[in-house]
Amino acid sequence: MLANQPSLTLYLLPLLQRLWPGFLPGLYRASLLSQQWQTPDMLLLTLKVSGRWPGFVPGQHIVLTLKHNGRYLSRPFSICSSLKRWQSQRQIQLCCKINSIGEFTPLLAQLPDNSLLNISQAQGDFYWQQPALPAVFIAAGSGITPIAAMLLSQRHWLAPVSLYYRVRGQENAALLSELEQLAARQPLFSLQLSDSCTTPSATLQQQVIANAASKQFFLCGPAAFMAQIRAALVSSGVDAASIQQEQFGLAMPALPTVTSDSPTLTGHFIRAGISKAVTLNPQQSLLQNAEQHQLSPQFGCRIGVCFQCVCDKVSGQVRDIRTGSLSGHGVEQIQLCVSQPVTELVIKL
Ligand code: FES
Repeated sequence: MLANQPSLTLYLLPLLQRLWPGFLPGLYRASLLSQQWQTPDMLLLTLKVSGRWPGFVPGQHIVLTLKHNGRYLSRPFSICSSLKRWQSQRQIQLCCKINSIGEFTPLLAQLPDNSLLNISQAQGDFYWQQPALPAVFIAAGSGITPIAAMLLSQRHWLAPVSLYYRVRGQENAALLSELEQLAARQPLFSLQLSDSCTTPSATLQQQVIANAASKQFFLCGPAAFMAQIRAALVSSGVDAASIQQEQFGLAMPALPTVTSDSPTLTGHFIRAGISKAVTLNPQQSLLQNAEQHQLSPQFGCRIGVCFQCVCDKVSGQVRDIRTGSLSGHGVEQIQLCVSQPVTELVIKL
């Protein structure tokens, strides 16, 4: 059994990938219908998703996986389109910020139409649970994406809702026309653009806290921006429990603290029949441990999605970084990128 993934499908992975190039267990196929620049650096992808994909709650994100130069690369993106679009057309949209010097996002702009991609199930717990209560949404930059999905999906408007959308110039406001159309047809929804070139952040904070009583708050944007808004709200008397915010990236549980009493772990990595003994850092993944000893194991996504780092564990116990679950002590396959050493280990690379 594969310690990190119980599915027998993994044993057949090479064969399945020969039959269906790009197949990855646990993921769903999506084909690229179109790309459209929303701003100079925000690209809107429209994807037709597999009928097997289980759907999403507006505000959630997916992990998108691409193959490039023989390696799988993965990144999380929030869905920005409405639930209705998926329900009626099996389409979702992702509004992706393209980082021109990044490894992943520039590839998105080069994808030909009808490219086949892999997407994960929808993930995350950033969603609008009580639409009957007055709400204030505050987004900055690409933080608009999950918030747009929540607002554009809302069918029954029951209470006043405000959106403060902080951008550096109106030309950088992605998804603005859809949100303006929503504001024009829905009297309970108001949209306020806050331009950081002309409006100080203190002004935005004053606007937000002016009518903060008895509201729910939803924040999404850069960490420093959210921290400032949250601090202003809490210091004005808003209950912290009524503030939700999106944290991008994959949640990994806190690791056990390593103290001076913690045992030093030894690992043996075997390659081509030659064993190399190394000291293992229990706070790092086995992939990182191996790389620090110049062993260069194969890898792709580094987040447990692509299975390119699967190796045979000969003996010893590992912890799954994502779930905290422990493996057995005997022979089994593990994913190096999401496994941490718990005991001494012998691993075949
Ligand atoms: S590198 Fe992709 S699963 Fe480990």
